[in-house]
Amino acid sequence: MKRSWKIALLLTASILSYVFVVVSAAMLSQVFSSVAQIATAMSIQSILVMISILVVVTGVLAVADITLGSHEEKEININDKLKLKGSGQDTLLTTLANHKIFIPSACGGKATCGHCKVVVESGGGDLLPTEKGLLTKQEMKEGVRLACQVKSREDMKIHLPDDLLEVKEYTAEVVALHDLTRDIKHVKVRLLSPKTIHFRPGQYVQTLVPGFEAFRAYSVASPPSQMDTIEFTIRHIPKGLCTTYIHKALRVGDKLKFTGPYGHFYLKEDSDRPIVCIAGGAGMAPIRSIVSHLKEKNMPRKVSYYFGARSKRDLFFEDELRSIEENYPNFKFYAALSEPAPEDNWHGETGFITDTVRKYEDSLVDAEAYLCGPPPMLDAAVKVLMMKGISQERVLFDKF
Ligand SMILES: Cc1cc2nc3c(=O)[nH]c(=O)nc-3n(C[C@H](O)[C@H](O)[C@H](O)COP(=O)(O)OP(=O)(O)OC[C@H]3O[C@@H](n4cnc5c(N)ncnc54)[C@H](O)[C@@H]3O)c2cc1C
Ligand code: FES
Repeated sequence: MKRSWKIALLLTASILSYVFVVVSAAMLSQVFSSVAQIATAMSIQSILVMISILVVVTGVLAVADITLGSHEEKEININDKLKLKGSGQDTLLTTLANHKIFIPSACGGKATCGHCKVVVESGGGDLLPTEKGLLTKQEMKEGVRLACQVKSREDMKIHLPDDLLEVKEYTAEVVALHDLTRDIKHVKVRLLSPKTIHFRPGQYVQTLVPGFEAFRAYSVASPPSQMDTIEFTIRHIPKGLCTTYIHKALRVGDKLKFTGPYGHFYLKEDSDRPIVCIAGGAGMAPIRSIVSHLKEKNMPRKVSYYFGARSKRDLFFEDELRSIEENYPNFKFYAALSEPAPEDNWHGETGFITDTVRKYEDSLVDAEAYLCGPPPMLDAAVKVLMMKGISQERVLFDKF
């Protein structure tokens, strides 16, 4: 309800109560005629007057609360382009979502993921203890805040990257589901509304876990040319909220809601540098999107993709990547198994995937790299790439 309506309603209620009390008192005086009755009437009258004062005071306090308190709607100015209203009780994340502006929020507002960072230029109050652990000193200096913690208790001016203003909410239907490995599922969804999505190869969306107000990030595993049907590769985390739902409960025909696209981990298409991709586990997803896109566009860039798995049963999309290799001469796929099983009959590369990178890559001074996978693997990969001469700002990664 609008603030002006709330105030009007409260004032009307207070005035009506007051009039009711005064009229009742006057009528009582008429009805009671004897001295004793008048005394009784007068005491009733004074009680009624007291009540009326209380009603009026309560009304005034409520009006003051709405006018001055945290309930008051505050203005949020975004990039000097958009102005929206938010309740002082909601977090900035909620207020923006209420206005269909979606910013990344992998932990559902628990102040643990640090994805919901926004620059607050004015308003927002002091930095909260819950924010400090997730912000660097530089970010604090620049006014970066966690949108899931900050409340709009005063008018605010914030800055959001323009691409976040393009993020939309989607409803999709699951059209295919199958196991790629013992713990990774291939999920294919067809968009129902809106019917298409535009994203860059490498970006991710945030899926809503049905029944919980929780979102989880999943990289799109298909190329951007597939605008109406997108794919994911999702690894089951034991007892994990979203992945247990996806692995154990999700069925073909079910609906999924997500927002997106998000992320700065995407293929830089304005470059002609050689590309090195390194991935492990579910980190296959954004790299598959990047490689498929490069192949579709037949980009004349040298592309090497290194994928690490424990044994053959953890290796997936191998046939597809070998087929891309055959049809796209610039592309080379290397797979390495760290613990091949005897029944794997594996004659390919063994050891950590970083050993294979070290073996096949010479100087990477001119290259750019896209890495995705578990943090220890990526840390090791960055070290090897740096030893090969790559410049740190050309190493992009998503750790998960
Ligand atoms: C940008 C981005 C893109 C991502 N893309 C993908 C993707 O394409 N495919 C994919 O499978 N995942 C992806 N993830 C990870 C995904 O967002 C979830 O974090 C993951 O699926 C776990 O969600 P959950 O709800 O099942 O577990 P939660 O309920 O969030 O966690 C349950 C427990 O497991 C722990 N945990 C959470 N994640 C991991 C992990 N990876 N390894 C070990 N323990 C963990 C938590 O600390 C917690 O204790 C991505 C993450 C990010 C940030
Ligand atoms: S949503 Fe995770 S820190 Fe804000």
